[in-house]
Amino acid sequence: MEAKEIIANAEKLFIPTYTRFPIVLRKGRGIKVWDINDKEYLDFLGGIAVNILGHCPRKVVIAVQKQVQRLIHVSNLYYTEPQLQLAEILVKNSFADRVFLCNSGTEAIEGALKLARIYMKNKFGKNRFEFIATFNSFHGRSFGSLSVTGQKKYHEGFEPLLEGVKFVPFNDAEAIEKVINENTCAVILEPIQAEGGINIPSKNYLKKVREICNKYKIPLILDEIQTGIGRTGKLFAYEHFAVEPDIITVAKGLGGGIPIGAFLTKEEIAQAMGPKTHASTFGGNPVACAAAVATLETVLEDGYLLDYCQRISKYFIKKLNSLKEKHTDKIKEIRGIGLLIGVELTIDGSEIVKKCLDKGLLIGTAGDGRVLRFTPPLVVTKEDIDKAVSIIDSVMGEVS
Ligand SMILES: Cc1ncc(COP(=O)(O)O)c(C=O)c1O
Repeated sequence: MEAKEIIANAEKLFIPTYTRFPIVLRKGRGIKVWDINDKEYLDFLGGIAVNILGHCPRKVVIAVQKQVQRLIHVSNLYYTEPQLQLAEILVKNSFADRVFLCNSGTEAIEGALKLARIYMKNKFGKNRFEFIATFNSFHGRSFGSLSVTGQKKYHEGFEPLLEGVKFVPFNDAEAIEKVINENTCAVILEPIQAEGGINIPSKNYLKKVREICNKYKIPLILDEIQTGIGRTGKLFAYEHFAVEPDIITVAKGLGGGIPIGAFLTKEEIAQAMGPKTHASTFGGNPVACAAAVATLETVLEDGYLLDYCQRISKYFIKKLNSLKEKHTDKIKEIRGIGLLIGVELTIDGSEIVKKCLDKGLLIGTAGDGRVLRFTPPLVVTKEDIDKAVSIIDSVMGEVS
C-alpha cells in the first residue's frame, strides 16, 4: 500500500485524537528513521523522549528477542527473573527501596497518587486527600493524572476531575507553603517541566520544596517520566538538585522504546500499599522488563553515556545559541539540561516543525507551541547536531 492510501484508511479507522504528519514510518536505526518511500529522517524527537538509546538499540533488540522466545507473559501471581533484575537496578541506582511496575506514564502517576493517598490517610486520617500541583505541568491523560495536570486545555470537556487539587506557579516554593492545610496529601511536580515548555526551575527550588514537605510531613512526588533514565545527563533529574523525593514516577525512556512504567518509593511509604490495594495485569511483563534491564544497563554502563549526554548537550546548546544570534527576531531563548532542550520562539513553531520534517528532521513543540522541543537519543553525535542545526537554520530563513 502507498503512503497516501495508508493515511486515508487510518484517518477513517482511528478515533481522531491525533493530528499526524503525512508520513508513514517503517524502519529505524540509531537516530535515523525511514518512511515507506525510503526517505531518511534524523529523529530529534525520539518518540517524545522515549527512544533514549535511539531506534532498535542492539542490546534491547537482543534482550527482547531472547525473552519472547522464553516467556512472553505471566500473571503477577507469580515471580519472574526479568522483573526482579529490573527492580534491583532501579533500587540500587535511586533513593528508593521498592518499586511497582506498570505500563505507561499516566499509569505510574495514578499509582503514585494512590500510594500517597493511602499512606497519608492511614497516617493522618481520611481527610488527607488534597494534592498540590503546578500550573503548566503535564502528568498524563487518565482522570487522576489529568487532574494534577496544570493546563486547562487538557481538562476541557472532561470535567469534573478529581476534587481537591490546588495549583500553584512552578518555581515558587512559597506558593506551595501558602496552600498547605490539614487536608494536604502530597506535592507533585516535574523536576523540569517538559511538555509545559522545557521550564527549568532555579537551583534551590526543589530544595526549598523538600524543606516545606519535611516541615509539614507531606510526601514529595517527582514525575521523572520525561526527565528520567538519563535524559538530563543523570539517571534521574532530582540528582541535579541534591534532593531526595519520597516517590518518583518513570516511563518513556525506561524500556528503550518498549512500553513500561514504574513508581518507586521508600520502605515506609511502600508498606501502605498492601496486598490487593493496587495491581496491573501487564505491569512487569517479562518482555518489557527484559527491555528495561537492557536499557538501564546500557545507560549506566561505566557512566559513559550519562557523561556523554552532558558533554554533547553543551555542544548542542552552543550551536543553538549561535542560531539565536543569527535569528534574533525569531529565537528568544535556548534552555535545557542534558538532551531535554527547548528553543523558545517569538512565533508559533508549527510551521518550523513542518518544514523541518520536509527537510528530513523530526522535532516537536512544547508549551503554547512557541517552544521547539528537542529530545534526541543519548547516542546523538556532533555530526547529527550539525545537520539538524543547519536544517533549522535554513527553515528559520523561510518562515515569518
Ligand atoms: C512528565 C510527564 N508525565 C506523564 C506523562 C504521561 O505519560 P504517558 O504518555 O506514557 O501516559 C508524560 C508524557 O508526555 C510526561 O511528559
